[in-house]
Amino acid sequence: MLMKRFIHILLLLLAFTASDVYARETINFNKDWKFSLNIDESANPAAIDYDDSGWRILDVPHDWAIEGDFDEHNPSGTGGGALPGGIGWYRKTFKVSKKYTGSIIKIEFDGVYMNSSVYINGHLLGTRPYGYISFSYDLTPYINWGKENVIAVKVDNSDQPNSRWYSGCGIYRDVRLVKVNQVHIAEWGTYVSTPTVSRDKALVKVSATINDGNDIWSKVTRNLTVKSTIKDSEGKAIITSTTSRELNWKGEEPEIVVDDSIWVDSPHLWSVDDPYMYTLVTELILNGKRVDTYETPFGIRTIEFRADSGFFLNGEHIRINGVCNHHDLGCLGAATNERAIERQLQILKAMGCNGIRCSHNPPSPILLDLCDRMGFLVMDEAFDMWRRRKTDRDYARFFDEWFEEDLTDMILRDRNHPSIVLWSIGNEVLEQWSDAKADTLSLEQANLILNMGHSADQLAKEGEMSVNSMITARLAEIIKELDPTRPVTAGCNEPSPNNHLFRSGAIDVIGYNYHNQNVPAVPRLFPGKPFIITESVSALMTRGFYEMPSGQMMTRPVRWDRPYFNDTFSCSAYDNVCTPWGSHHEENLIFLNKQPFVAGQYIWTGFDYIGEPTPYGWPARSSYFGIVDLAGFPKDIYYLYQSEWTDTPVLHLFPHWNWEPGQEIDMWCFYNNADEVELYINGVSQGIRRKDAEHLHVVWNVTFEPGTVKVVARKNGVETASQEIHTAGEPAQIRLTPDRSKIKSNGTDLSFVTVEILDKDGNLCPNAENLVQFSIDGKGFIAGVDNGSPISLERFKDNKRKAFYGKCLVVLQNNGKKGKIKLSAVSDGLKDAHIAVNCAPKAK
Ligand code: GAL
Repeated sequence: MLMKRFIHILLLLLAFTASDVYARETINFNKDWKFSLNIDESANPAAIDYDDSGWRILDVPHDWAIEGDFDEHNPSGTGGGALPGGIGWYRKTFKVSKKYTGSIIKIEFDGVYMNSSVYINGHLLGTRPYGYISFSYDLTPYINWGKENVIAVKVDNSDQPNSRWYSGCGIYRDVRLVKVNQVHIAEWGTYVSTPTVSRDKALVKVSATINDGNDIWSKVTRNLTVKSTIKDSEGKAIITSTTSRELNWKGEEPEIVVDDSIWVDSPHLWSVDDPYMYTLVTELILNGKRVDTYETPFGIRTIEFRADSGFFLNGEHIRINGVCNHHDLGCLGAATNERAIERQLQILKAMGCNGIRCSHNPPSPILLDLCDRMGFLVMDEAFDMWRRRKTDRDYARFFDEWFEEDLTDMILRDRNHPSIVLWSIGNEVLEQWSDAKADTLSLEQANLILNMGHSADQLAKEGEMSVNSMITARLAEIIKELDPTRPVTAGCNEPSPNNHLFRSGAIDVIGYNYHNQNVPAVPRLFPGKPFIITESVSALMTRGFYEMPSGQMMTRPVRWDRPYFNDTFSCSAYDNVCTPWGSHHEENLIFLNKQPFVAGQYIWTGFDYIGEPTPYGWPARSSYFGIVDLAGFPKDIYYLYQSEWTDTPVLHLFPHWNWEPGQEIDMWCFYNNADEVELYINGVSQGIRRKDAEHLHVVWNVTFEPGTVKVVARKNGVETASQEIHTAGEPAQIRLTPDRSKIKSNGTDLSFVTVEILDKDGNLCPNAENLVQFSIDGKGFIAGVDNGSPISLERFKDNKRKAFYGKCLVVLQNNGKKGKIKLSAVSDGLKDAHIAVNCAPKAK
């Protein structure tokens, strides 16, 4: 019965709607997959008649690891998040009507982690080791037209550790089915660039790669016309151009490229503040009949990196104030969700951040679309390792065989995004040093080289072009062939010009990870080369935890190879803890403000991520690096950036005001738009403070007494803002605050609900740990719960969560139906709370 329903749904899904049976159609192929983990494979789960009736039905994007329990013994290790791996199988049954015979049917995967093997009707279409790459297969030769077909996907993430951070497991990005004519535009087959741009005119160069699936055009004379229409952001056509060719030859390549150049008058330029997008609509007309239509969003802008003065967008200088992020979405795991990514970007944009580094792998295409639409300057990165591995079972095993294809696919997929300003060929690859003769460094050896330095003889010698330099040059060459418009960089933690990557001459923009002390020498060491800090800071913080004296700067661990232990498993949220290779946030900002030739930086990291819980081991299982915690709650340092990078009024006093009477407390404040700030405790002034060139925060050392601490900001002697914190009493009630109370009824939209534990007067209880139980009713479900603690071993997929420093988070997801989701939160001894989120077709 269930099976019947299943096939029926897919039949409906595959009723392509276009009147022309050959026209391009793309259908979302995310729904109703069957899934099973770690099964006995002897009965051939790829076979069409395999009995999957006992398997779970779910939608992708899906990450099975996030559903699991943390365990110290999971092979990913705490570095990988201590969540389970394994081998997962997915199957999906569908029919394609006979009337589509003659079309080409493809399946497109945005990403499967990792080692995927895709089958149709028992036939292996291919395998793809790299878990971050997008790929597709042509299903046409194997389709049972009008009958049942089965796609089976084996995902093998059993061989671990294979990552230095949490990867997730499964079909964790979108899947689509695409139907096209035999003659069609290839996947990622358009390329748009804007080589000449002024305020009056822009030259838009377009090219279309056209495939002839069945070699039909070599059999008869064909007239092929490519019509290119540029539409503005409202969808209005502003200019059209056509080019035609006679295809009348024998033995012609089944793939041809047609170029065109189009001038756009008074172009609306793309920028971070005004990310204006155009759309190129490419139509293929074969002997007078339209056979394909393909849309390419693009932006008109120029980018330039200058050695002496940094980065220029449309001829105007702009500092790249970026962050690095990994791809996980906290309690949602690696499973891509547009709203979850958009929320992260909104939080970062409000901080004044204008750049994202996709560390250290090709991201979800959704992230790039959002960066285009929201105005971020992206460094798109291909690899965290080349031939030299960093973890035992990582991609280094596959590099030699796959790097050309993986890098090519990344560039083809991503090169039309105006947000991308840099291609990175790798992060801290170990080929910076040794000569790549051996591929078998142990993890310890690798980490020693990575983090502890190296001997000079591992660097390139004068006149030498090592294997590693040649790999560098080859990677850059692949990129330049496909996209000469953007510079190539790499995140390097070897600052010497004798770094094998630099020695290749193929790195256009020199990129350092950390090494601020070496930065002033860059113009001398790399004359004429632009420079960017590809990775900075790596400071450590737990939201809500404070270690005093706050002015005492701590390095943790003291050295990379010395274990660090402290039974709090926490790091102070004053800006006073960082790694030995990193720096404090404020120190780094002040330093960079004095280096005008630097194009900018990407801070490690915008958001906390699962895995790499430096400086701690188990039970720590997620990072401390984020400016924002794993649940999406900003740490105090967020307001430093907001006060420096935006005009949004900022007055942020911290920490809380719940201490022991008589305790000495450091009260910090970040502010802007004011000349001075004054602190009062229970009405008594504690003095006026002002920021100066060496301090972007102010501090008062005061003695705690219960009551009210208040800060007042003044400009020209006039009060412009104030903030009060009251000593909170016992936990008494729960407050629920959804980030949006209206969401779409599309089955994927989310409402992120902040849960706070308050005293009877409504003050946040800053140390509350109450366990909150959630129940929901209506048109949705709980997609995840979190509280931002890097050491909580509670499950992310649950209906309860303990508060962490007074707060936790519950994420509600619409189930595809219109109506309300009602959420109730209860906790022993506290007044409960209830809210409703409205799910409507077009809600904002
Ligand atoms: C860098 C590395 C990042 C992350 C970071 C932690 O060296 O590129 O991936 O490991 O250190 O501080």
